[in-house]
Amino acid sequence: MKLAVIRERREAENRVAASPETVKKLIGLGFDVIVETSAGDAASVPDQAFEAAGATIAPDLAAAIKDADVIFSIQGLEGTDAGNAKKGALLLASLNPFVDGDRLKDYASAGLTAVAMEFVPRITRAQSMDVLSSQSNLAGYKAVVDAAEAYGRAFPMMMTAAGTVAPAKVMVMGAGVAGLQAIATAKRLGAIVSATDVRPAAKEQVESLGGKFVMVEDEETAEAETSGGYAKEMSDEYKAKQAQLIADTLAKQDIAITTALIPGRPAPELITEDMVKSMKPGSVIVDLAVEMGGNCALSKAGEIVEVHGVTIVGHKNVPSRLAADSSALYARNLLHFITPHVKEGALHIDFEDEIVAESVVTKDGAIVHPRLTGGE
Ligand code: NAI
Repeated sequence: MKLAVIRERREAENRVAASPETVKKLIGLGFDVIVETSAGDAASVPDQAFEAAGATIAPDLAAAIKDADVIFSIQGLEGTDAGNAKKGALLLASLNPFVDGDRLKDYASAGLTAVAMEFVPRITRAQSMDVLSSQSNLAGYKAVVDAAEAYGRAFPMMMTAAGTVAPAKVMVMGAGVAGLQAIATAKRLGAIVSATDVRPAAKEQVESLGGKFVMVEDEETAEAETSGGYAKEMSDEYKAKQAQLIADTLAKQDIAITTALIPGRPAPELITEDMVKSMKPGSVIVDLAVEMGGNCALSKAGEIVEVHGVTIVGHKNVPSRLAADSSALYARNLLHFITPHVKEGALHIDFEDEIVAESVVTKDGAIVHPRLTGGE
């Protein structure tokens, strides 16, 4: 039973899908673990640390995955590399299937069983495998740190002999996993924090962290949450009411952290150019949704831009900016996914299991997920 951990090839991807701790545990389950050389360098895990944990280092990708029954990755294999894997091998990674779906055809032709970790259902039993949560949590923290760096003022109130420094006012849009961590981090830094969401369930969570909750509440919000806990796209009428509320609130803020996403759809535009203009000079917007089109009309993916006196931060792949921690958590998510499917040193994947059934995207030569084949 061989398990390969590959070096990520995408630009600005510093994470690695295993840690010395998880390598030891995988070996304990009965795997021979092969790590592609330099896989952990950018996450501060040198080859020697993987070797010390019991892994074998492979000189390149082809050598790492050639005989592997299981392949661990953060962003998956490129389509052209899939042919180097063994037919029937299980690939676990974040595959971004709605945006990056083309390579799934290559995975299917190579006979890979590919699991899109972002499709793991948000059920209690799967919490320890939830890569969206583990990575978003760190992204929410980092967004506030990035905002603090770009902001030419302090976050906390300071009373000094030379006068008082006013606390920063931070508004968080989208109070899911990333947003809640952003609220907690901004509070810890001493800011006055408000937050908005379309799901009424977010109110209690925001308030429990000491944030003020502002939202448009009408008959539509009762239906705003899917059974999976995600937000739906709202009607034009709701969007207009929400835009007015955000416009009124935003003009009084120093910092906006935006995290609003709708699965499988472009991110909702919450901050228009006029709203940016209404903000005070020196204000900062950090748009965590920038890779899905952005919550701010002026944010640019991979760039920090200054428009109308406002700094708009649009870093891509924010979890990768904390690669040591995000890798360690991601690695544990994958370990927790695979563990129940290993029995007495052999791999027996239970395809009937709800978690597997909802996350397998290619199997037996075909793309099989209903959300990708138009069945859902
Ligand atoms: P997400 O990343 O899909 O979206 C981020 C936030 O943006 C969400 O709170 C969403 O409601 C909000 N949003 C979407 N459209 C918006 C709009 N137009 N205006 C304002 N806000 C908008 O969500 P995330 O962080 O992945 O969490 C999704 C849900 O899953 C939450 O209910 C969360 O509590 C739940 N969850 C449950 C877990 C479990 O029980 N295992 C684990 C993690 C999350």
